[in-house]
Amino acid sequence: MKIAPFATEHFFAEYEFTTPYQLCNSDCETVTVAELLALSGTTLDELGRLTLGYTESQGNPVLREAIAAAYAGISAEQIIMLGTPVEGIYLTARALLEPGDDVIVLTPAYDALINLFEHIVSAENVKKWAFRPTATGWQLDLDDLRSLLTPKTRLVVVNFPHNPTGYLPTPDQLAELVRIVEQHNLWLFYDEMYYGLVHSGTPPISSAAEMTNRAVVLSGLSKTVGLPGLRAGWLVVQDRALHDDIMNWKFYTSICPPAPSEFLALAAWQVRDQLLDRNIGRIEQNLQIATAFFARWPDLFTWRRPLAGSVALVGVAVPSVTALSQRLAAEAGVLIQPATMLGGTDQQMRMGFGREAFPDALQQFERYLQHNSLPGK
Ligand SMILES: Cc1ncc(COP(=O)(O)O)c(C=O)c1O
Repeated sequence: MKIAPFATEHFFAEYEFTTPYQLCNSDCETVTVAELLALSGTTLDELGRLTLGYTESQGNPVLREAIAAAYAGISAEQIIMLGTPVEGIYLTARALLEPGDDVIVLTPAYDALINLFEHIVSAENVKKWAFRPTATGWQLDLDDLRSLLTPKTRLVVVNFPHNPTGYLPTPDQLAELVRIVEQHNLWLFYDEMYYGLVHSGTPPISSAAEMTNRAVVLSGLSKTVGLPGLRAGWLVVQDRALHDDIMNWKFYTSICPPAPSEFLALAAWQVRDQLLDRNIGRIEQNLQIATAFFARWPDLFTWRRPLAGSVALVGVAVPSVTALSQRLAAEAGVLIQPATMLGGTDQQMRMGFGREAFPDALQQFERYLQHNSLPGK
């Protein structure tokens, strides 16, 4: 059965390892295994003693215990370690939905959050709850969500901190979202892959797992702590029947998490605050550099500064960001991501601020803009 192309991943597969100046990564700067072991006080000897048999299918109990302790009111039994974070979207979609159900997805979005649900319930059954742009940011209207509800709505899909707008709801908005979900007896798929990356001045919010047992929360170590190569992720699922259905689907996709990944995930979890602080510091520095850059190019870009996370959605006054992106990669080795891949328009691009080389990449982009004229909109 056909599924829409996963455009973001096709794009990164083509360009990530061949384009020197990257401006659109959603992950934060990573560390080496040696750095992670040193930071967490773990020895190579301990890693060497790890056996490579099958692991516990729900995930290492010590790791699940440590992760559960970070959520108020959540037990290790309610954590499902995944083979990879992205797997959690597929497993939940499979376990929760039947063809004919309606799903509401916040858009734009990481494309898996749209395409996998459309694949299962059909494109017509996926209603788009769209962000509204303002002059300087993004607005989320919960009445828009209410207007999309139908008697067949089963699931609402959101992601905060949001990829690609960098939006974070207020505590009141989150409480209202939860109220709507509970009032209508819906499920909430809540993607928290960027959890904790909250910029100075933005009020933080709780994990949705602490607010309602109707939420299935996806989290992992790829973005916030910058370890996407670990492929470490988990779901928090409080409903027992749904938990068992998700586990059944997981046996078909990955069976159990990879042992080396779980070992290193436990080391990383112990030092997550240090990694997070480093990443937030870098994001804020890069945002400052980006804000100055956008101020120099006010006719070309519309800058809506993100509130949280590692990415932003930027307006670009050209006929096609897709064409510009291909030209930039070929002629300047600079990578920007067209937002059409994320359900945005072709006059928008996604940028990422978590990488150490961001200032150099931005400088290369600016050199290109200074020496080449772009087609007007
Ligand atoms: C919102 C969101 N959810 C899930 C994922 C998947 O995470 P991973 O690539 O670590 O599997 C991503 C990755 O970009 C993402 O941006």
